[in-house]
Amino acid sequence: MTGNASPQPEPTPRSVGSAPAPAPAEVPLIMARGLTVRYQRARQRDELTALSGVDLDIRRGEFVAIVGPSGCGKTTFLNVVAGLVKPASGWIEINGREVEGPGPDRAMVFQDYALMPWRTVESNVRFGLQFQARKTGVSRDQVKQKIAEVIELVGLSGFERSFPYELSGGMRQRVGIARALVGDPQILLADEPLGAVDALTREAMQGELERIIAATGNTVVLITHSIDEAISLADRLVVVSHRPGRVLEIVDVNLPRPRSEYDVKDAPGYRELREHVWSLLRDEALGARPLVKP
Ligand SMILES: Nc1ncnc2c1ncn2[C@@H]1O[C@H](COP(=O)(O)OP(=O)(O)OP(=O)(O)O)[C@@H](O)[C@H]1O
Ligand SMILES: [Mg+2]
Repeated sequence: MTGNASPQPEPTPRSVGSAPAPAPAEVPLIMARGLTVRYQRARQRDELTALSGVDLDIRRGEFVAIVGPSGCGKTTFLNVVAGLVKPASGWIEINGREVEGPGPDRAMVFQDYALMPWRTVESNVRFGLQFQARKTGVSRDQVKQKIAEVIELVGLSGFERSFPYELSGGMRQRVGIARALVGDPQILLADEPLGAVDALTREAMQGELERIIAATGNTVVLITHSIDEAISLADRLVVVSHRPGRVLEIVDVNLPRPRSEYDVKDAPGYRELREHVWSLLRDEALGARPLVKP
């Protein structure tokens, strides 16, 4: 994985011709090169560059957290991986194939849970299978069993028939996670998944998330505004500049797992890591909005 600085070089072309193909284990699951995203703004009649020349490799089974100032293009990046937004230039591949749209290999978890209030927990989770091509030979009972499995995995057994209004914020997000997992995605894309819950629940849910991800072996791309959360959960942190978002630095988090079983903040190296990421982000925040006018 590489961070890059402006001016942006031309994105590396995809491998063609007679170059030897790398062994499958070496091919990153997600590979982005020179990703640049622009939005057309109808009212302003202009173009806004949200991301600029982003290079990123994410390995299978890796947990990557993206941190950066508000408006730097984090959600935009997630939407590009999800196949919902197309880059203006550069490219992104998953499993060696260019992303052309959404697919069952990727699932999203949203900050506001995005549950349907008129559906029960079970029915909300079932909705995660809505856009799955029907697998041949999968019976109704097997689908039911799978739904029960993920509901148990997220710790909601006994609440299958509850409606979202009968659940706490943390429980609602568990439903959101179960709905994402029910289709057995390879990649979990989580946009501030714990941003709407209170501080205590958030900390408890971080441990839950670590446990759930360890159980599924998913590759995770998590967006968070919390440096502590990023360090507690991720294998690597991608620090993004203010808009247009560029990769400023990629920081390895070499702390032992499961981190939820000890106070990760006391781990050797934690404070330095936190201080380093914070200093990068502080410079970016100040760069975007100078406190003192020049
Ligand atoms: N559909 C859109 N049309 C026009 N501009 C957009 C659109 N979506 C996002 N933007 C702009 O692109 C920039 C990046 O937005 P994005 O939502 O990716 O940022 P973010 O890093 O997720 O921010 P936050 O941390 O506040 O959620 C912002 O300036 C935003 O106004
Ligand atoms: Mg966002």
